[in-house]
Amino acid sequence: MKELAKSIPDFLKKHPRANLLQAPAIIHKLPRLSSRLGHDIYVLRDDLTGFALGGNKTRKVDYLFGDAVAKKATTVVTIKATSFSRNAAAAAAVCGLDLHVVLPGTESEQNPLSQALFMQWGTRLHYEPEGENALADCLEHVVASLKTQGKAVYVMHPGGSNSIGALSYVSAFHEILDFSHRSGIHFSHIIHSTSSAGTQAGLVVGQCISSYDTQIVGISASLKASAQSERVRELAWSTAQLIGTSLDPTKIIVDDSFVGPGYALPSKEGENAVKLFARLEGILLDPVYTGKAAAALLDYSKNGRFKNGNVLFIHTGGNAGVYY
Ligand SMILES: Cc1ncc(COP(=O)(O)O)c(C=O)c1O
Repeated sequence: MKELAKSIPDFLKKHPRANLLQAPAIIHKLPRLSSRLGHDIYVLRDDLTGFALGGNKTRKVDYLFGDAVAKKATTVVTIKATSFSRNAAAAAAVCGLDLHVVLPGTESEQNPLSQALFMQWGTRLHYEPEGENALADCLEHVVASLKTQGKAVYVMHPGGSNSIGALSYVSAFHEILDFSHRSGIHFSHIIHSTSSAGTQAGLVVGQCISSYDTQIVGISASLKASAQSERVRELAWSTAQLIGTSLDPTKIIVDDSFVGPGYALPSKEGENAVKLFARLEGILLDPVYTGKAAAALLDYSKNGRFKNGNVLFIHTGGNAGVYY
């Protein structure tokens, strides 16, 4: 008898989650933007993943804390005050684990709003005055000292983009497939921001499992396309290996044309896109990631790249970052 093809949930079932996420995330049409552009544009609302303003970080945190709990960790350690670490702070609180974050610089150099959030969630912060280059040593020191105190330590990948974190976007791809099957709406293009690569790596692995015919385009927030593609390829490969599937690297498409003056520096196109999403749809984007991805969407539409297809824009969050 022919073996039935394995589905995405079959590949993911061995990997526990912490159940922090409101899933499936909402997918809806953007009616006013669609009529302005002349294509049907949909959005996956990962800005509304429902946990401590985490956006796409909540998906990663969900799998990473699921893993930490399964491994019976009592204490999680990570580095840098990224939006990932802040979402991990809330996750640690909910999972009943201690979180330690190693930060470059001194206490007085930190952003006070970010510090306030860490304090609210009960995170222990460690400062490394020597800066970025000394962070790895400081992390090692913190981990060693926690272990001598008898803690079961789980070192969490900074930014959450390792193969466990990327599983969360394999799962997100399943949500997209499920939406497509139920609604009969096929997406010819999926557009999203790419940086530490977990989002795109997971999506591409999901696409490879399902053979869904779409173009997933990662809009780089910082790196040149070749370097970003390599980053995505490495992570997608290790993620595929982890769950025992294969990767078609030709599915990895990165566009670096919308970085503008540089990482985290606003671009004119990005600012226009942020304004358009706000004024037509009431949706807030951020200038670093989602605004630049939305700029690509507008540009592709103008240049006829979408033809008659339906487009899915992944809103990866970032709203909280606007206020830090
Ligand atoms: C709001 C937002 N969107 C997109 C990204 C990029 O996702 P990834 O790091 O998984 O490539 C990030 C990463 O920091 C982000 O904060």
